[in-house]
Amino acid sequence: MKKNAKLKSDKKSKKEKKKTKAKLKLVKKPVKKAIKKGAKKAVKKTASKKTTGAAKPYSQKPMSKATRALLEKGRAYYTFAYKPRDIIVDRGEGAMVWDLDGNNYMDFGAGIAVTGLGHHNKELLDVLMKQAKKIWHTSNIFFTAPPVLLCEELVKASKFAKRVFLTNSGGEANEAAIKLARKYAADKGRTPEQRDIITFHGSFHGRTLATVTATAQPKYQQGFEPLPGGFRYCKFNDFQAIEQMVNGNTCAVMLEVVQGEGGITPVAPGFLKHVQDLCHKHDALLILDQVQCGMGRTGHLFSHFAEEGVKPDIVTMAKALGGGMPIGAMLVGEKGENTFQFGSHGSTFGGNPLACSVARVVLKKLQTPALIKNVRERGKQLVDALKGLDARHGLFTEVRGRGLMIGAELKPAYHGKAGDIAEMARRQGLLMLQAGPNVLRFLPPLVITQKEMAEGIKRLERSLGLFIAQK
Ligand SMILES: Cc1ncc(COP(=O)(O)O)c(C=O)c1O
Repeated sequence: MKKNAKLKSDKKSKKEKKKTKAKLKLVKKPVKKAIKKGAKKAVKKTASKKTTGAAKPYSQKPMSKATRALLEKGRAYYTFAYKPRDIIVDRGEGAMVWDLDGNNYMDFGAGIAVTGLGHHNKELLDVLMKQAKKIWHTSNIFFTAPPVLLCEELVKASKFAKRVFLTNSGGEANEAAIKLARKYAADKGRTPEQRDIITFHGSFHGRTLATVTATAQPKYQQGFEPLPGGFRYCKFNDFQAIEQMVNGNTCAVMLEVVQGEGGITPVAPGFLKHVQDLCHKHDALLILDQVQCGMGRTGHLFSHFAEEGVKPDIVTMAKALGGGMPIGAMLVGEKGENTFQFGSHGSTFGGNPLACSVARVVLKKLQTPALIKNVRERGKQLVDALKGLDARHGLFTEVRGRGLMIGAELKPAYHGKAGDIAEMARRQGLLMLQAGPNVLRFLPPLVITQKEMAEGIKRLERSLGLFIAQK
């Protein structure tokens, strides 16, 4: 009897050891396996309660001392400009990331539309390491091959640009565009009063003083006055209002093809062409801010490619251009190609060879039809799923967007709760964003697979269920 009991307990402890080993291994295993485990857990947890909103919380490993210490330091030493969540992201692979304690998360935010090719992309890593072993930085006083070749490739891919100014961020790319538009008008003999830039309510163009002024949302401007002059704001997608506003004092109209931070609002059909016609009439430049909605995000390399007959004068980009390396670009067409002359503008780091070598590979990969097809298919999968979730939970007034830039607007009863839902999602193994207090924002990596998307949606449904149950 005793012997038997000992044998049994030996077997049991062996089994347990195996289990713990497997658990530890999981942290290192490729995404698919981790997803499988996550999916199994998710199904288990929700199977009995299905979609009633009463699913049990997803169990995460308890927060380690190391995580707690880093969170405390972050909160002690960062300015209060951000409000990071209770997680230390440690590593990533494809569409998934792991925190310091080994919990996995499906990444539906991609670092705010940055890691389009997913995390830890081998080709990007290889090219970065290769360049890192050659030279890191020279400044723009000297050419290096990566930025020169990137500019050529951007010009060709854009189908409109003649020249490129490279920057480190989207805000800087927009600053360059604003300065160029002003100088374009100045070169034509227009006085400062005749150099207005028109932007749209709900827009977002950056955090520098000029770009925050271009951002027609008071919440980003309050307290930073006096703001630079010469910006006027128009209602987005209002054909008549813009017609009344553009005149001989306008040097540029600047807009996003899909407003990102402002709530994932796409431009109305025909609106871009309408604005373009007005710009032509008054010799103003059409600036398209594609910092968030560019680089394949909407199912087109450049988001205006979906609009018939639209040829911008300037396109700004950043975010996904570097796949995670900091880089931005201002592409300028024929009208403004000679506006910047020696000394007009500059940047120490802009066109950094490390970032540019990576961006060249990103740009090439984003032009492959298979990737664009994936963006469209996964976008449809996500929209269909969100509509399905809405049918079951009744949370949204609208699901909108293009490609893999999708927003779900919350019903008035849930207004102000987008952040709470995103936090609930984090606890359920899903990283997602909000666009203002009322819109859930989804920007997964463009390479996300069908299976990864399905797993993320499952985690979202679990989070929404818990959110509703908590109310
Ligand atoms: C449309 C748009 N323009 C500009 C910016 C500013 O870019 P960055 O944060 O790289 O300065 C952003 C950032 O979210 C953006 O979404």
